[in-house]
Amino acid sequence: MKTYQIAVIPGDGIGPEVMREAVKVLNAVSALDGGFNFEFTEYPWGCEYYLKTGEMMPEDGLERLKGSDAILLGAVGYPGVPDHISLRGLLLKLRRGFDQYVNLRPVKLLEGAPCPLKNAGPEDIDMIFVRENSEGEYSGQGAWLYPDSPQEIVIQDAVFSRKGCERVIRYAYELARREGKTLTSISKGNALNYSMVFWDQVFEEVGRDYPDVETQSLLVDAAAMFMIKNPKRFQVVVTSNLFGDILTDLGASISGGMGLAAGANLDPERRYPSMFEPIHGSAPRMAGKGIANPLASIWAAGQLLDHLGYPQWYTRIVDTIEKMLKENNGLTKDLGGSASTSACGDAFVAMLSDRI
Ligand code: IPM
Ligand code: MN
Repeated sequence: MKTYQIAVIPGDGIGPEVMREAVKVLNAVSALDGGFNFEFTEYPWGCEYYLKTGEMMPEDGLERLKGSDAILLGAVGYPGVPDHISLRGLLLKLRRGFDQYVNLRPVKLLEGAPCPLKNAGPEDIDMIFVRENSEGEYSGQGAWLYPDSPQEIVIQDAVFSRKGCERVIRYAYELARREGKTLTSISKGNALNYSMVFWDQVFEEVGRDYPDVETQSLLVDAAAMFMIKNPKRFQVVVTSNLFGDILTDLGASISGGMGLAAGANLDPERRYPSMFEPIHGSAPRMAGKGIANPLASIWAAGQLLDHLGYPQWYTRIVDTIEKMLKENNGLTKDLGGSASTSACGDAFVAMLSDRI
């Protein structure tokens, strides 16, 4: 029997509540499968830890996680600690430290999930975002000169390296080829005359190795419009760190809401553990009430299983979420139900086990 070591960082706000359900589901999956199981190690890092120690995680945090097969992350951020400190000190540090350069985010409207678009259904909204996750606008480089003076100057550098662009774009081409899907690159070369012109150039260069993959290149503003007006245009999408951040929130809003939005932070070369998380954040106002929707975390747990080599479990998890939506069974308030976070997790496990 294979045992996987999973590091769990519940984090802040609703993070611990939704993580509990993700762990519940992974244990249920291992019991049903019988071929593998999990050992979970919890790390109490986050804003509370920061208020006690002055750090979001210990100095040797990365070292301690390094041996895990994967990381589950709840959410980071809480009032009392500035967001740029909490996020740079934990979430972004892990993404960067473990070179998780692909952020894979499905934008898939399941049957029964709410959608604000008038004329769109599940057959129209089924895309997968490949967001660059290690550099770009999130490089963290820049300067703050002459603070609090009339000459004050703030510079935030975006860093686009050949290696960084090539590897994420190649990953997206490979994915599109494997799945027989089209690939859309989203950039902004008309205004960002260095970074995005370069991005477009690399997209074209790498594309020469993939003549079989049908592509389109869109400017980010037009892409935002098309995601609303004609989401069917998009299958596999590759874009920069910040554009991917923004467009995947837009994507979540047309595919059932943040309560269903999951993301995988991948090191495709598997030198380091990859990390799986709901993308909704810590939602401090909902915290501690047992009302948060755990389905995004459960979907992320499905991505974790896919990454470990069990794509059949990914499919079964997404199918089970869809079944809950269709039957309006065990849903939390954001999806029109009245279940608590843990009741939703229990209903999920019951339906997962109940093979039709
Ligand atoms: C996300 C989040 C993070 C990001 C924040 C919390 C730093 O919005 O995972 O999308 O911008 O990457
Ligand atoms: Mn985001």
